[in-house]
Amino acid sequence: MRQIKSVKCLNPGSAMNEPFKLAVFISGRGSNLQAILDQIDNSELDAQVACVISNRSEAGGLGIAQQHGIKAVHLSPKQFASEQDYEKALLAVLQEADTNLIVLAGYLKMLPQLVIHLYKNRIINIHPALLPSFGGKGMFGIHVHEAVLEYGCKVSGATVHLVDENYDTGVPILQECVPVKCSDTPESLAARVLEVEHRLLPAAIKLFVQDRIVIDNRRIVIKP
Ligand code: GRF
Repeated sequence: MRQIKSVKCLNPGSAMNEPFKLAVFISGRGSNLQAILDQIDNSELDAQVACVISNRSEAGGLGIAQQHGIKAVHLSPKQFASEQDYEKALLAVLQEADTNLIVLAGYLKMLPQLVIHLYKNRIINIHPALLPSFGGKGMFGIHVHEAVLEYGCKVSGATVHLVDENYDTGVPILQECVPVKCSDTPESLAARVLEVEHRLLPAAIKLFVQDRIVIDNRRIVIKP
């Protein structure tokens, strides 16, 4: 049966004109986080980064969050006696932040299934290739661009997609192509794709803020 859903990311606070709150997950330097913050600072994106969560204590993006006065949390399953304790701690941070949308911005771990379930259709991820190609477990960072070049692709790109229970299989929201040059190295291709990521991820967040996302089975329709 055909299922068409309009995704509402509203919480009780939004009825009182509260900002649209993002929980951003990172594992590394956080340039995508920076791109989101730049758009918020320039008033191009009407949202607030309520918290930044990293599975790695040394992630550069945690410093970016602190400089902006944003709650920055290092949370990894390794810090907890059980998966349940980890889930509980993660959910407490998300709930305290009054999270409307979870944004995975270079986050290299799978979220707990309970979080994926509770925030269904309210979690997005940026992937540095045109899914469904060059996605899945182990396809992250420079490995993606190496694989694209090894295959001999003429185009690559970036995808923002909804997150479901598996790696990189959720419905695409926005995709943009990046031509592959004969002279490309994995690093040069990564740099050009990253420029696109920095535009595409804030653009996708904006669609949620403006309540313009409709899910029609495996297709996202963007309301005008
Ligand atoms: C980005 O290319 C992202 O797509 C990938 O990891 C990189 C993270 O970069 N999954 P940054 O931490 O946002 O700078």
